[in-house]
Amino acid sequence: MKIKQINILGIETSCDETAAAVVAEGKVIKSSVVASQTKLHEKYGGVVPEIASRAHIEKIYPVIAEAITQAGVGEDNIDAIAVANQPGLTVALIVGVTAAKTLAFMWEKPLIAINHLHAHLQSALLGQDSPELPAAALIVSGGHTSLYDYHSPLQPVLLGSTIDDAAGEAFDKVASILNLPYPGGPSIEKAAKNGDSKAIKFPVSMLGKDSLDFSFSGIKTAVLYYCHGKDMKGENKVDSMTSEEIADIAASFQSAVVDALVKKTKRAAEKIGAKTILLGGGVAANTELRTRLQEMCDSMTPARKLLVAPKQYCTDNAVMVASLAYYKFKAGLFADLTLEPKSTG
Ligand code: KG4
Ligand code: ZN
Repeated sequence: MKIKQINILGIETSCDETAAAVVAEGKVIKSSVVASQTKLHEKYGGVVPEIASRAHIEKIYPVIAEAITQAGVGEDNIDAIAVANQPGLTVALIVGVTAAKTLAFMWEKPLIAINHLHAHLQSALLGQDSPELPAAALIVSGGHTSLYDYHSPLQPVLLGSTIDDAAGEAFDKVASILNLPYPGGPSIEKAAKNGDSKAIKFPVSMLGKDSLDFSFSGIKTAVLYYCHGKDMKGENKVDSMTSEEIADIAASFQSAVVDALVKKTKRAAEKIGAKTILLGGGVAANTELRTRLQEMCDSMTPARKLLVAPKQYCTDNAVMVASLAYYKFKAGLFADLTLEPKSTG
């Protein structure tokens, strides 16, 4: 007898990607559709909430329709609708939440509310057999930088987070200072390839020897002062810098941020006795971070296993939402039609 698979439609609209996906049993990706708004926000150097909201409204229906068509499952074979309802931009989240509630009502399917950051964490487990637990999970995105103690998909415990800028935000802001294109993370990574990471010593606050929190506003300011002079009255040196000088700044900045992320993750792993390290979120696409975290895992005694989200599922997507929702489905953790978006979480 063929056992029926649980198919979940996931919806993600927390920031500047409109995404939908169908995932079976939490791991078989049947479809993944992402409409990126990068082009719309590029000229502002960051995400403009009203523009994001309007673009989500335009794209949400075609993106969901495409995800269902690609998956080849009819509406009858969708077992639940999952949506990221927090944290994120409220005016963006509300589009996905409203679409999910409408479908759940029309199709008479259960609704599942997903925490966007927990979903990023789940993306590190895509395609993996059960990892050895506990795991220390580093989630680095444009809006958040957080460390978790991961025992089960349903209850990651927050160990620390940024007290000011997120790592991705720092990449975006430094790219803007250096006149590099938006989004800043990939631009900095590209520029850094030709630079010397030891050229400039940019400080990153470690916030005390036991802290598992992060702070990246200081390094952003340090780069700003380096480029404009400390009193900000000096000429903008960036315009007259050579591409080698820009590359050195990018490489030195990237290396300092990665250093802080790796050291704090090691601290968290030691504190909770982690057997595995998980890495997810947009900044997890960064090759230097992936490489240095792997080196850290190899150097620990005993060596720890590193599980990293596949590159295409590091930045925002709905596969991670539908994947995590499977565990909530199994546990009977459903939301009702009063579900609201929440900016925090
Ligand atoms: O997870 P994500 O798609 O959205 C949020 O939940 O915020 O992350 C977007 C962030 C942006 O700040 C972007 O610059 C950064 O991830 N990012 C990177 C790279 N690719 C994306 N940062 C560093 N290196 C990259 N290759
Ligand atoms: Zn995200």
